[in-house]
Amino acid sequence: MNKLSVFVAALLAGTMLIPGEGSAQTYKTQTIMAASANTPGSNHGVLLNRFKDIVEKESNGAITVKVYLGGTMGDEAANVKQLRNEELHIATLFTGNLTPNAPTANVLCLPYLFTNMEQAYAVLSDQDFRKELADDVAKESGARPLGWMIGGWRSITNSKKPITKLEDLQGLKIRVSPTAMQLAAFRAWGIEPHPMAWSEVFNALQQGVVDGQENMYVTNRDNKFWEVQKYMTEIHYMLWIGSVLVSDSWYQKLDADTKALVEKAVITAQNEEWANAEKEESDSKKLTLEHGMEVTILDPQEEERWKEKARGVWPEFVNTPEMKSLSEKALAIIAAMPKK
Ligand code: MLT
Repeated sequence: MNKLSVFVAALLAGTMLIPGEGSAQTYKTQTIMAASANTPGSNHGVLLNRFKDIVEKESNGAITVKVYLGGTMGDEAANVKQLRNEELHIATLFTGNLTPNAPTANVLCLPYLFTNMEQAYAVLSDQDFRKELADDVAKESGARPLGWMIGGWRSITNSKKPITKLEDLQGLKIRVSPTAMQLAAFRAWGIEPHPMAWSEVFNALQQGVVDGQENMYVTNRDNKFWEVQKYMTEIHYMLWIGSVLVSDSWYQKLDADTKALVEKAVITAQNEEWANAEKEESDSKKLTLEHGMEVTILDPQEEERWKEKARGVWPEFVNTPEMKSLSEKALAIIAAMPKK
């Protein structure tokens, strides 16, 4: 076990509430509709299939979970609307793609909020923070986060040239998810990024509509971006954090046993995703290199310039009582962690 896995295991053992083992409950026969715009092998696909296994097994087949992957139920932003309308019951997506419908989820996208993955695990294990964020997001979007996924840094890929400094970014057409925070960060770095739905990205890269995009190594692997991208630059402005969302109106109507089973299945699948995230990311980096992508790591002094500019956008977003409260809580949790 590496250091991060040990940390995550201890954190999960100490702080995560896993609803108790199902005893003799009986469950109403029903079908749960689950979706992700990502591939079956992605962390989304693995998590939703794990959720399905647990729910179907523990309900003795009374509950069936239908999992729609690869965008067959539409794009990530569309999935949020489907949750609100109860056309879907559970969906996973990158949190940036939730923010147009739930601006408070921006608290997890604040540029340079986190300096390592442990901080994200600590913030998202804090029950008080989780509850407040879940209630705010549910109120804003009709979709309630019951769990969170944590991945690597969103690094920049492109097909044109290595990026070793801010100046190299200028003139490149970079796709970002349609989140105001990412638009603001890239504008602070001097370019006008291209917001685009996730399901359109591979084709846009292939056809040269955009030169590049930003995502973690795992996403690079899942989508074989090395077929259409040559260069990758590691920056540390934002961790890939995914939301495991349920339809809030559906969830509130569930009987207590079904609710507890849904929660247990989400938390179990979430915890397994957390425990594997670091290894998945380093394996995906290896594959990225094996497939011929050139990886550049920004010089720390150079990244200070990126950080200063991107942190400058915080006041634009930390401007509501909800964002103030949650960002203060996140910063306090991070500050209370032992220094490395
Ligand atoms: C995006 O860039 O839109 C997301 O990172 C895709 C995802 O859900 O992994």
